[in-house]
Amino acid sequence: MYLYGASGHAKVIIDLLQKAGIRVDYLIDDNPAVTSLSGYEVRHTYSGEQPLIISIGSNRVRKLIASRLGARYITAIHPTAVVATSARIGEGSVVMAGAVIQADARIGRHAIINTGASVDHECQLGDFVHISPHSTLCGNVHVGEGTWVGAGSTVIQGVKIGAWSVIGAGSVVTRDVPDGTLYVTSRSALRRVCYSSTLREMQAITLPAPQQSSPADRDEER
Ligand SMILES: CC(C)(COP(=O)(O)OP(=O)(O)OC[C@H]1O[C@@H](n2cnc3c(N)ncnc32)[C@H](O)[C@@H]1OP(=O)(O)O)[C@@H](O)C(=O)NCCC(=O)NCCS
Repeated sequence: MYLYGASGHAKVIIDLLQKAGIRVDYLIDDNPAVTSLSGYEVRHTYSGEQPLIISIGSNRVRKLIASRLGARYITAIHPTAVVATSARIGEGSVVMAGAVIQADARIGRHAIINTGASVDHECQLGDFVHISPHSTLCGNVHVGEGTWVGAGSTVIQGVKIGAWSVIGAGSVVTRDVPDGTLYVTSRSALRRVCYSSTLREMQAITLPAPQQSSPADRDEER
């Protein structure tokens, strides 16, 4: 099989495929300056080789390439990912190490469920979505085509996020997000210094010097 796109994202997919026992023949990339990646040859023309995975992190670019290739794609799942029997994952999608996809989840084509991400029961994810590392989608969350959920985000149950939106890393999404929206949870409220009295109280306390313990105490500690 082949990978289209010689990038950092491709390195992760190569490792996944090696662990899953799937042979990579070579990579294809539009950039003539890139000639090898992770020990694999990078070619610069696509002549209909199949099956393949579009190994590019940008959701937009994956869609542009998929629209012109019309190829047959494989779905790649890391051996340490946990995917419920009733979940469905579309062609060209990749599920990285430690991800969990729960019962009756539906994931479209060319999606990325990244390292340690959690997609809970009955979630519906469109084509070309990217659920970044360690994000959590609670049950029944909908994510529209092309939306990027940033690393470490939490989307509570039942929320609907539209298409081609971006959820900033570390966000907590509790309400629906329309199409084409950048949503970032403001952290500014958390930057204020609010524990000054605790800080002063604790810094004023000096602990007594550690006492020399007797050989008998040391035996007990063991
Ligand atoms: C939300 C995001 C897309 C915004 O990118 P951007 O438009 O280039 O924004 P900037 O970096 O110019 O930041 C603009 C402001 O927003 C703040 N900001 C950016 N991302 C933020 C986030 N996730 N949470 C809180 N604040 C954020 C910045 O600190 C900056 O604040 P300032 O103006 O007070 O300095 C990006 O920061 C992000 O979170 N991307 C997701 C990254 C990720 O998950 N990667 C995983 C790859 S596998």
